[in-house]
Amino acid sequence: MTQAHPSRHLDRRRLLQLSGASAAAIALGISAPDADAESLPHRAGLFGLGVASGAPRPDGAVLWTRLAPEPLAEDGHGGMPLRPASVRWEVARDPDFRRIDRRGQALATPELAHAVHPRVEGLEPATDYFYRFVVGRQISPVGRFRTLPAAGMEVDSFSVGVVSCQAWYHGHFTTHKHLAAEEDLDLVLFVGDYIYEYGITEANLWRQGAEVTTAHAVETETLEQYRLRYSLFKSDPHLMTLHARAPSVSVWDDHEVQNGYSGHSSTSGVPDELFAHRIAVAYRAYYENMPLDIAALPDGPSTDITTGFDVGTLARFSLLDSRQFRDGEPEDTDEQYAEDRTILGTEQEAWIEQRLIDSPATWNLMANGVVLAAISEDRTDMWDGYPAARQRLLDVMSVSRNPVMLTGDIHRHVAAELKADFADPGSENVGVELICTSVASDGDGAPTDSYTDDWTQHEYVKLYDGRRGYVHVRLTPEEMVSSFYIVEWVEADDSAPRELRARFRTPADDPRLSPVTEELR
Ligand SMILES: [Fe+2]
Repeated sequence: MTQAHPSRHLDRRRLLQLSGASAAAIALGISAPDADAESLPHRAGLFGLGVASGAPRPDGAVLWTRLAPEPLAEDGHGGMPLRPASVRWEVARDPDFRRIDRRGQALATPELAHAVHPRVEGLEPATDYFYRFVVGRQISPVGRFRTLPAAGMEVDSFSVGVVSCQAWYHGHFTTHKHLAAEEDLDLVLFVGDYIYEYGITEANLWRQGAEVTTAHAVETETLEQYRLRYSLFKSDPHLMTLHARAPSVSVWDDHEVQNGYSGHSSTSGVPDELFAHRIAVAYRAYYENMPLDIAALPDGPSTDITTGFDVGTLARFSLLDSRQFRDGEPEDTDEQYAEDRTILGTEQEAWIEQRLIDSPATWNLMANGVVLAAISEDRTDMWDGYPAARQRLLDVMSVSRNPVMLTGDIHRHVAAELKADFADPGSENVGVELICTSVASDGDGAPTDSYTDDWTQHEYVKLYDGRRGYVHVRLTPEEMVSSFYIVEWVEADDSAPRELRARFRTPADDPRLSPVTEELR
């Protein structure tokens, strides 16, 4: 499924040689001797970080778990001894595993924080499956996934939950609880800031009832610190439930490494040569903790998370990396408006243009870390900082079928129609952008705030809300229905009910956001 850029192929063989036979065994699916499972720690169970599936295909998916009997052990190893452990996995059509469809083994090694990413293949398309992991006598929680429809197949409906910005310390993951329990879900899409790198102290710990040790008080810089940060965030029970509920795919934004970083450059004055180390360990921890294909295993400070997949003829998804290849902050407006300025990098830009133009699908969804719509030229961290690159993408969207951008980053629900030329508000719509508010970042929030007018002054912005929530997108051959849910609070506890804040219909081949008001409570 991964459709890598031709010239960004990573030298996996070299990396596997460096990592030793254990990593090679994972990549190749070779089973290793059972590493005396009975002697492994089991005080809290080995599966303290839950299970996940991802990278779905018509014939299977990647399964994920990370052995961690003590997820918050401060060395980042989750309480595991520094030796490999063999992990069995099983896939079945029934949740009781009476008949196993596929089974296999993967090796959990300390080099990859005892995470495993086996790819299960040979399954039926558009079918529900259950999976679990087994180590010795310990059995993991059961997860489920649905395989994608076969290529070229007509599909009646496909539903995606979109979430973003999980500042664990700012609130409870109530949003995930509702998304997992109450929505029809073929896929969950994380659109960036899965973790935050900031030190967590009394000052920013707004999540009531939570406590953290001083190990979390510093900004993450080392591999061990990033691993521990993933463990902390992933220890949220609602996030684990959501991962077990449906397969997920993800793009990242900046906080998976450092606030505001560009390409290979930090925002803290660290020389690029030194910052490369931090990028390398942050990307590695991301791979370790997400249900990603082996193609996303980083090679030092570079990795390929740009990927895509088709949902029959209904939808084509393209996951973009808007961090790793972007030019840095502009010095002045000449630089900001320069024709050759890029946010995706030349190769990725060519890749997405070709995918849009060649697409056989009715709907063409892209996901990226930062807002595409024109809001203010002062917001240089978003596509507003890359106007020539935005125009090139809009030009391609104008000749594509039903392009939709899915975005996070701003901790606000925003829905915007995308104009052929943002300098001419009367120009035609070429697509729509659905911007998902945060799961927890910025705490409870409020319906309006000091930024509201900056956004709603534009006629093409159809929604603004500063509370926490998620977006649910349902695609059919006739229309896309996007539903923006909010929860009133996240700081005090996880009991807030969800509320439907806005719902829009976008008819196929008519790129607009048409409010649906009769269904709002
Ligand atoms: Fe964020």
